[in-house]
Amino acid sequence: MPIVAPSFLAADFLHLEKACEMVNQSAAEWLHLDVMDGRFVPNISFGIPVISAISKATTKVCDVHLMIEEPEKYAEAFKAAGANVLTVHAEACRHLHRNLQQIKDLGMKAGIALNPHTPISAIDEVLADADLVCIMTVNPGFGGQKFIHAMLKKVESLKESIIKKGANTLIEIDGGVTLDNAAALVRAGADVLVAGNTVFAANDPMATIAALKAIS
Ligand code: DX5
Ligand code: ZN
Repeated sequence: MPIVAPSFLAADFLHLEKACEMVNQSAAEWLHLDVMDGRFVPNISFGIPVISAISKATTKVCDVHLMIEEPEKYAEAFKAAGANVLTVHAEACRHLHRNLQQIKDLGMKAGIALNPHTPISAIDEVLADADLVCIMTVNPGFGGQKFIHAMLKKVESLKESIIKKGANTLIEIDGGVTLDNAAALVRAGADVLVAGNTVFAANDPMATIAALKAIS
């Protein structure tokens, strides 16, 4: 059974407390918070003060996905804001090993996100240092995009590498996850399913989370 991480990018920003309460009562173990800086990605979302408020209202793991340049400048502030998992993009880090170390030294789980075009070979040497690898199954920057099917193979090869290395790294899938493609993703090796629109645009978000959680 995968960990389900509803993405607040698709929540009603006027009622974030309601979204927290819904997730608190649901089968989701994590909640996913997308930070965009308008530089690494062509969009701006929300930042440290909003995450600080959300982390106080949730009983779940705060999984913060940084789509920003120079993430090392802000790691400490995200820790103070309540982040439990902090994920940086390989493409945004000139010294990725140092970034992972910094995040772990601050007491958070360290994640690496990969854009669809970035091969997993780009992180082979640091794979065992990461607590999580986030495979982007859309180009980052926006919610509600279509799942890129070719990424299924990438998930499979990542799973193989993790097993070969005997690492404990979790595989997270982010972008276009639906009730239709979730089973194939879990079969390919996904441990964490991020879901924005699939959860928050559903008639019954809690039942949708339960349905994602029940996939094996
Ligand atoms: C996209 C974000 C995703 C986004 C997913 O750049 O990283 O987390 O919220 O949204 P859906 O699930 O709607 O594709
Ligand atoms: Zn994300």
